[in-house]
Formats: sequence, structure tokens, C-alpha cells
Amino acid sequence: MALILKILIYFYLSAGVQSVHQITWLPCHFVDENVTLNNKSHVVTQTLHRVATLQFGETGNSPVNRGAVTFLVTGSKLDLRRYMEGVGAEQVECELRRYSTEGIHVRWPVQGAQGYNRWFKCTLKHIKGLFTITGFLRHPSDQPPPGEHDYLHWPTIADGETLTTTVAMVVKTQSPSVKAALKSQQKLHCQFAIDHKAPKFTVEWHRLLYGKMVKLFSHNSSSGRTDGIGVRLKDLADGDASYNLHSAEMSSEGKYICSVSVAPVLVDLDVNLDIEERPRVFLNVEPTLSMQEGKAQKIVCEAEGYYPLDVHVVWYKQRIVISNQTVNTPLPKMLAVFRQNGHKLNKDHTYSVSSFFYLEASLSDSGKEFTCGVFHQSLREPIKISFILNVEEPISWLFNIILSLTGITLIVFLYKTRYRRSGRRQTSQKRPFGGVSVV
Ligand SMILES: *[C@@H]1O[C@H](CO)[C@@H](O)[C@H](O)[C@H]1NC(C)=O
Ligand SMILES: *[C@@H]1O[C@H](CO)[C@@H](O)[C@H](O)[C@H]1NC(C)=O
Ligand SMILES: *[C@@H]1O[C@H](CO)[C@@H](O)[C@H](O)[C@H]1NC(C)=O
Ligand SMILES: *[C@@H]1O[C@H](CO)[C@@H](O)[C@H](O)[C@H]1NC(C)=O
Repeated sequence: MALILKILIYFYLSAGVQSVHQITWLPCHFVDENVTLNNKSHVVTQTLHRVATLQFGETGNSPVNRGAVTFLVTGSKLDLRRYMEGVGAEQVECELRRYSTEGIHVRWPVQGAQGYNRWFKCTLKHIKGLFTITGFLRHPSDQPPPGEHDYLHWPTIADGETLTTTVAMVVKTQSPSVKAALKSQQKLHCQFAIDHKAPKFTVEWHRLLYGKMVKLFSHNSSSGRTDGIGVRLKDLADGDASYNLHSAEMSSEGKYICSVSVAPVLVDLDVNLDIEERPRVFLNVEPTLSMQEGKAQKIVCEAEGYYPLDVHVVWYKQRIVISNQTVNTPLPKMLAVFRQNGHKLNKDHTYSVSSFFYLEASLSDSGKEFTCGVFHQSLREPIKISFILNVEEPISWLFNIILSLTGITLIVFLYKTRYRRSGRRQTSQKRPFGGVSVV
């Protein structure tokens, strides 16, 4: 058993290691810009969409795609690929942009970074929302700092050109989109890493509320100042800037922004929080419903307390055949005629709905299973709840007549017998209140 486990772990690890090395390059969308001033000194930005490659390797490697702009990422303390572990290149969307430091020129505190750096922001998104990663690529330049409006002096980058860069900072969230149940505790994930020791960083969390940014938390490592709550300082030192939400409420829905800055660069990562409550489903009848043929009953399926609004209720009818303990369930037939009451808004802002139909008991339906299926985005599989209909034949009219006749005969017979026997006491029985008044 232990051996099997070891082998499994080995395969799991080697698969992970392999996939790290599988990505040797990624096709990227380079959003380049041409910024100019118009004749009224207004800044005009023209966006240029270009083909680029994010290539991992050593200085001097030849580009895998000669026609594209190559961003060659050479070794540093940070390996971007480590943050995409277990994910294939085809599952990652890569985007590159130039980054303006708006004139701030500080020496990046790593060895060999004496002069001016040009910065590129690389965003890697998992296509199914497993993560968003932003990496800052530092490209040392032999040019002097261009001054405040660096974007007005972007050096042109030609197709086929290779820019040798190193990763200076990485910020990642594993929860770009969080689905939270009401009152649940949530962790909005945000982690960061910087390529040098004891970096001077600032971490902030904001929330977009009615179009305004509201600050939730901030920590400045150089001043040691912390405002707000939600992030554990102990975790911050290890690069974990995750925000802890103690209880998710309807009012917690919305966009949260994790920002990490190390002068002169800043990363903002969005985390969207949506409330999602699963419906509770009830039927108004027992699991086995016995009815007489020809009788009708309203069957109600209630879905309660779900959020958001969209819910879908369907009814199925199917025959159950039990032959020696194997239950054969043929494909369910959807009931066409049923009605739904409008969504009801509950006090806690969740919704409820009831779906119903009038079931007329017919012998042909006896033994059939009726199922209410509730579909909602919070459910991987719909919730299904069923009852089995058991229809009893009404007692036939002939049997009824015979029964009635027998009954009448019996009553008449009994009455006659009694009349004969109690003939003498008849007078006193005809004055029933007489006795009472005497008492
Ligand atoms: C940038 O814009 C200016 C003015 O519109 C134009 O003359 C120049 O050719 C553009 N450069 C590029 C690379 O598109
Ligand atoms: C400035 O440019 C606008 C169009 O972009 C043009 O209509 C206008 O005549 C120009 N003004 C001057 C003073 O060149
Ligand atoms: C962090 O604190 C230092 C020292 O007080 C200050 O110079 C710097 O501007 C602060 N950084 C941010 C982003 O507020
Ligand atoms: C069910 O099982 C019983 C006893 O095991 C057997 O006698 C009978 O023939 C079986 N019926 C069918 C339909 O297989």
C-alpha cells in the first residue's frame, strides 16, 4: 500500500516537473502603443496589436518565432513557469504591455542593475479561470532615463527583435473569480514574490463600490505602517497577501483589487466575488403517493433560498420496473404541462420559486416515478426529488350496489327485530325529554 502510494506520488511529482519544463515558450499578444501629442498638446495613444513570443531560456538563445517580437526571459530568482505548474501552454493566455514608471527612476536593487530599466508587464491568464499571474519583465537599457513622459519616447521595437529580460516581480491570484455561499468564510488569494531580499513593498486591498475605490487594507514594509484588517502580517512576510473575509454577505459581492508595489512598479490584480446559494428542494407529497383512480391532486415542488435568480425546474415521469432487484429506469419523459409561480424574494435576498401541476390519477400511471429536477448555477448536477404514484382502482358500481343493498337489508332487519321486541316501551321512548325534566 505504502509502495503504491510512493509510486503514485513519484508519478505525480514527475508529471508536475515535466509540465514545468514543457512550457519553453508561449505565444503572446503584445499590446504596443504609439503615443504622440496632437496639435493641442493632447496625448493621443494609438494601440498596436502585435505578435510576440514569451520565450524561456538563456541570453543569446535564438528565437523560436523569428517573425515575432521575442521577450526572452532569462534566469532570475523568480521562474514564471513555477507559477503555472501542471498547466499546458494551450491553457494560458499571454499578454504583454509596456509599462510607464511616469518618470520615477530608482535603481532596481539587484546585482548588475546599475542603469535605467525598461519595464514590461506580462499577464498570464488561465483560460478556465484557475489563476491570473502578472510578471514584471525588466529589460536593462543603455539609454539614459527619458524623463517624466517616458511613454512619449517609447523606443520602437521591430518585428523579429529580441528583448532579453529577467522577471523582477510576480503577483498571482488563484481565485480570480470566487463563488461564495452566504455567511461562508472566504480567502481572496493573492501572493507575490520579488527577485531580491528584504524588498521595500506596499500591499493594498481595495474594493470597487458604486464606482468608487474603497481601501480595505494597506501595509507599507518600509514604514511598517498598517491600516485596515483582513491580511495577516505574518503571512505577508512570506509573500501571502490573501484577504480574509469572515462572512460573505450579499453586500460583499463585487470586485476586489490586490495591489503590490515595489518602486517603480505596481501590479493590480482583480478578484471578483459572487454570492451563490444552493436551493433547498421540497415536494408536498410523501415518497409514495396513493390515489384513487380519477382523483386529482396538486403536486408542488418548492425550490427555496437560492441565489442568483436564475433557476430552472423540470418535471419527469418514468416507469420503474423492478425485476429481481434490478431497477430498470427508462429514459424519463418530461411533463409538458406544469406551471411556475414567480420568483419570491426572501428576507435574506435569496429567492424561492414553486413549480406545480395537477396530477390526475390514472391506472396507466400507477407505479410510475415522478421527479422534480431543479437546475441552478450553484449545482454541478441538478437536485432531483421523486415520488412513486400508486393508483387504486375505485370499487366498482356493481360491488357498491351489492354492498348498499346488503347494508339496507341488514338495517331493516335489525330495526324490525327491535321494534317487535320493544313494542311496550315504545311510548316512553317517544317522549325522550320527559325523564330529564323530572331529574
Ligand atoms: C506613430 O504615430 C505617428 C503619428 O500618428 C505616426 O507618424 C507614426 O508613423 C506612428 N508610428 C508607428 C510605429 O506606428
Ligand atoms: C489641429 O488638428 C485638427 C484635426 O486633428 C485640425 O482640424 C486643426 O485645423 C488643427 N489645428 C492646427 C492649429 O493645426
Ligand atoms: C512607504 O513608506 C515610506 C517611508 O515612510 C514612504 O516613503 C513611501 O512613500 C511609502 N510607500 C507608499 C506606497 O505609500
Ligand atoms: C426472480 O428470482 C426468483 C428466485 O430467485 C426466480 O424464481 C424468478 O424466476 C426470477 N424472475 C425473473 C423474472 O428473473
